Amino acid sequence: MTRKKEEKILIVGAGCFGISTAYHLLTRGFSDVTVLDRSNVLPAPDAASCDINKIVRSAYHDVFYARLARDAISLWKNNSEWGNAYHESGVVVLGADTVYAKTALLNEINLGARVKTLDDIDMVKDAFPSGVHIGHIFDQERCYFNKDGGWAAASEGIAYAMSKVKDLGGKVIPGIQIKGLTKVDGVTTGVHCEDGKTIAADLVIIATGAWTASTFPELSLGRRCLAAGQSVVTIQLDEDEAERYRACPVVLDFTTGFYIFPPTRESVVKMARHIGGYVNLIHNEDAKEAISTPRTVHSHGAGGLLVPKADVKVLRECLQNIYPALAKKPFSSTRMCWYTDSPDSDWIIDVHPTDPSLVIATSGSGHGYKFLPVLGKLVVDRIENTMELELQKKFAINRPLGHIDLSREGRQVQTLNVDGLCTAEDLLP
Ligand SMILES: Cc1cc2nc3c(=O)[nH]c(=O)nc-3n(C[C@H](O)[C@H](O)[C@H](O)COP(=O)(O)OP(=O)(O)OC[C@H]3O[C@@H](n4cnc5c(N)ncnc54)[C@H](O)[C@@H]3O)c2cc1C
Ligand SMILES: *[C@@H]1O[C@H](CO)[C@@H](O)[C@H](O)[C@H]1NC(C)=O
Repeated sequence: MTRKKEEKILIVGAGCFGISTAYHLLTRGFSDVTVLDRSNVLPAPDAASCDINKIVRSAYHDVFYARLARDAISLWKNNSEWGNAYHESGVVVLGADTVYAKTALLNEINLGARVKTLDDIDMVKDAFPSGVHIGHIFDQERCYFNKDGGWAAASEGIAYAMSKVKDLGGKVIPGIQIKGLTKVDGVTTGVHCEDGKTIAADLVIIATGAWTASTFPELSLGRRCLAAGQSVVTIQLDEDEAERYRACPVVLDFTTGFYIFPPTRESVVKMARHIGGYVNLIHNEDAKEAISTPRTVHSHGAGGLLVPKADVKVLRECLQNIYPALAKKPFSSTRMCWYTDSPDSDWIIDVHPTDPSLVIATSGSGHGYKFLPVLGKLVVDRIENTMELELQKKFAINRPLGHIDLSREGRQVQTLNVDGLCTAEDLLP
């Protein structure tokens, strides 16, 4: 179906999928684009896209994402296009012997990235500032350094993109929670809001991230848009420490999934693991089966920030292996951040097979943020029917789930046990 540029388009969710889609619709000449988000404050504090930082890497086993990441990086670097959110610290990839990272390295080299393998400990040390003591994992695991990459101040990037959307005439409206779709003869005609109102639209784009499966149970996306909580912790450095670690690269270990950033302007160091994460299964009366539903600061107040005790311990062990001096410090905050996972880690970017007025754009699978500058282009290509067939299949909502995600092979999904969440004591060294 060809869409008309003046049609009324509603995007539900103002994370990186929703905002990037709005931006690309507007630059492609669509004139009536509105983004709705349930949060009163945007970027929404519990959105996956809202964070102090996210890794921007082109280290991908799948050459499609490696290439797309390099396209995104070249846009991130252009301050007049994407502001100052991107920081090119470089990325050190550990676990270079894993199947995933071996292929990732080849892809990066073939695409012309400024990559070098760090073949001995002196080369590793040269990749870090001289005052930083690195841990013994660098003696044990092979690693490589890519200078074309780093991190983005995530919330800042989203806020910047929102301002671009508004400058182009798009609307971004906070404080509207959508609870379902309105339909006539099986075709979407708009959305139902939590306050009882309905909003009509010619096209609705669902970009609700980890809330997708639980908000729209009739779409049966519990498996393909699995909400999986991931434990994030931070350390507050003092000014001297922050100065010492400021020029560190991002470190990402594909053996354990552990990754750590250099300090932010506020001297905060964030770390987490890229793993299967935790499901929080909730059985709602209108759903056939229990659906994993994010448990966040929005639904549970400060308790929604707590992460499992066991993870705090593992994160400290991983930290000890990378920066032993920092492992002596208390963690200063925790957060459960929710991935929207598909089993193969490919996104869902598709027009609903039986409902041409409904588009789904989600399943970032823990790696979507870096693509903020380019994600929406794919969504608009799909909407305008100009997406290559091969990509249509890759991102189809009902694709066969043939392959698994190698980037965190063997790191299984667990069930969240709210009795096992951390206390203040667990954060101490
Ligand atoms: C711990 C963690 C680490 C990550 N690290 C990286 C990384 O290093 N690099 C990287 O590239 N990516 C990373 N990611 C992945 C990346 O953050 C996600 O792929 C991306 O942010 C997902 O964007 P989204 O738009 O789908 O979802 P979100 O950003 O979560 O946005 C969804 C929005 O929908 C709104 N919403 C939900 N329900 C409703 C409703 N019913 N009505 C109205 N609005 C609603 C929410 O308020 C929210 O604003 C990480 C993710 C996590 C959780
Ligand atoms: C950066 O973006 C601006 C604004 O879109 C554009 O005019 C310029 O050509 C871009 N610069 C580079 C180096 O791509």
